[in-house]
Amino acid sequence: MSEISSILKESRKFEPKKEFSKSSHIGSMAAYNKLRKAADKNPTAFWNKQAKELQWQKPFKKTLEWKFPFVKWFTGGKLNAAVNAVDIHLTTGRRNKAAIIWEGEPGDVRTITYQQLSIEVNKLANSLRSMGVKKGDVVGIYMGMVPEASMAMLACARIGATHNVIFGGFSGEALRDRLNDSKAVCLLTQDGVYRRGVPSSLKGAIDEKLDEVPTLKNVLVLKRTNQETPMLEGRDQWWHEVVNPQSSECKAEVLDSEHPLFILYTSGSTGKPKGILHTTAGYLTQVKYSMRMVFDLQESDIYFCTADIGWITGHSYVTYGPLMNGATVFLYEGAPNFPAFDRFWDMIDRHKISIFYTAPTAIRAFMRAGDHLPKKHNLSSLRLLGSVGEPINPEAWMWYQKHIGGGKCPIVDTWWQTETGAIMVSPMPGAVPTKPGTATLPLPGILADVVNKDGKSCKANEGGLLVIKHPWPSMLRNVFGNTERYINAYFSDFKKQKYYFTGDGARKDKDGYIWIMGRVDDVVNVSGHRLGTAEVESALVAHPKVAEAAVVARPDDLKGSALVAFVTINIKDLLSNPTHLELEALKTELKNWVAKEIGPIAKPDDIRFTDALPKTRSGKIMRRLLREMVTTGKTTGDTSTLEDFSALEKLRADEE
Ligand code: PRX
Repeated sequence: MSEISSILKESRKFEPKKEFSKSSHIGSMAAYNKLRKAADKNPTAFWNKQAKELQWQKPFKKTLEWKFPFVKWFTGGKLNAAVNAVDIHLTTGRRNKAAIIWEGEPGDVRTITYQQLSIEVNKLANSLRSMGVKKGDVVGIYMGMVPEASMAMLACARIGATHNVIFGGFSGEALRDRLNDSKAVCLLTQDGVYRRGVPSSLKGAIDEKLDEVPTLKNVLVLKRTNQETPMLEGRDQWWHEVVNPQSSECKAEVLDSEHPLFILYTSGSTGKPKGILHTTAGYLTQVKYSMRMVFDLQESDIYFCTADIGWITGHSYVTYGPLMNGATVFLYEGAPNFPAFDRFWDMIDRHKISIFYTAPTAIRAFMRAGDHLPKKHNLSSLRLLGSVGEPINPEAWMWYQKHIGGGKCPIVDTWWQTETGAIMVSPMPGAVPTKPGTATLPLPGILADVVNKDGKSCKANEGGLLVIKHPWPSMLRNVFGNTERYINAYFSDFKKQKYYFTGDGARKDKDGYIWIMGRVDDVVNVSGHRLGTAEVESALVAHPKVAEAAVVARPDDLKGSALVAFVTINIKDLLSNPTHLELEALKTELKNWVAKEIGPIAKPDDIRFTDALPKTRSGKIMRRLLREMVTTGKTTGDTSTLEDFSALEKLRADEE
């Protein structure tokens, strides 16, 4: 590990609009600075205050116990996550407010009020109890984007079972391994899901693998597509048959602050997935606070986060965050391009969605599909946009701001991780000016910094390693069943300083804004300079013909290493069916473009055009596979999280 050189030049800056700031939770930089200064001086006191926003069955005694690298927050207290997400609204005017508005892919719509949500969650919680699920048991959830998926999480939380959501797009093997690793006793799933216009089997497709999970005693199957589904007598039951007769009253377990709320396996682009363990009170505290402040949540908002419940975003900012704040959350079941690539814009228009939160990979896909699609719809209900999951390249940021936000919506670029549980770095939209490509400043009470390998703060614009210097409430508590991995992955690089290492490279500019340069594992070394892949990729994507790019290094006799860029071209440019000569000319054009945009040092030695890049199911480019391919011609290691094997196969064939 050493310093990382930064080459990205981006100087655009956007002040919050007055009309937005006027009614937002933090409306000025002065108010923001005051809050952050006090919180950073004493993060423990700051989070103590935020924790009091939760409903406690017994107040906590101690705010923080920190025995590096193990942490406990709000000990001595007792509470329940489902009570905090649902019950607290039942005695207020929000009781009959829509908690969830859901649209199925075929176009069916359901609206579920907080009262109705409470009834459904309680019945499901009673069902779990009736099947013998107890406090402390692990329950797997393998479902599509239906309201019952959020209800499933809340029902587990209500009885003190620990949920383990496995993304519905994962294979049977990936599901089996995650159920076995977590020793799940029960699985909540469904017959099928709608995807791109057709019902596709869920339980049926993985059924055989369930026989290889010895701890699994019960499987509850929700009917969604009515397709034929194998049911094992004595283990599998239909959801409606078990749930419908249950009572709608269900006493919530009274749980310790540090009771395990959920395990979530990281979809990490490197190595074997880790079961990230989150507990109750700290997680809820920071998720509730960040949801309210970062999205500047107002009572009348309709909030749409496109993340699947299989990811941390689907836990923190589809389920717990919005519901704890009494928001109306919009859920969509299907593919973003069904029936066409304007499905999201159409739904924003029809449901009058006001906050929209998605990932850069999706934004680039929308850009690629063309500007005419958002233009077909009235997007004026939107007042705030969000981005998460990867560095957003300035080009995509500008497109998002103009074509989706109509130039009036602030964009919150939110940096965080499965491990951090909640947003850590993001602008407060009414106060902090934004710059395309940066998540801006840490949240109050989050001591994020960019340091060199000795743990010393880097100077402005010097690239280094992103660390968190003080524990935060929603941090992971362990890697499930593997404490050694917890210590090695996050706390061994800066043991002396007691810092958490995020694994990301970053720089801070002179305003203190944090620019993520990509995973440190992906850093490329060119003639002695260590460059973050995000910057080179960002320069490539800024070219009008480029849709997406992934940059890796391969060994080179002369230079030590050479840069290889994998590039996908915009659809409209592909239609012209370019000849070999034209493609070669485009390669030269792109190489020169990068040299001009960010400097000759970053000029790719090799450009390869491809239809698709290998990505994780959550949309992150798996550069490790590309690196292995250009280095050894082979790919090894875990590919269970790969979205589309054919993309990799095709690249491999091109290689040969
Ligand atoms: O590299 C950072 C990138 O995604 C990683 C975390 O991935 P995951 O655990 O799957 O969680 C994604 C959803 C929170 C980070 O280490 N990342 C996430 N958000 C951003 C980001 N990189 C740059 N900017 C972001 N806003």
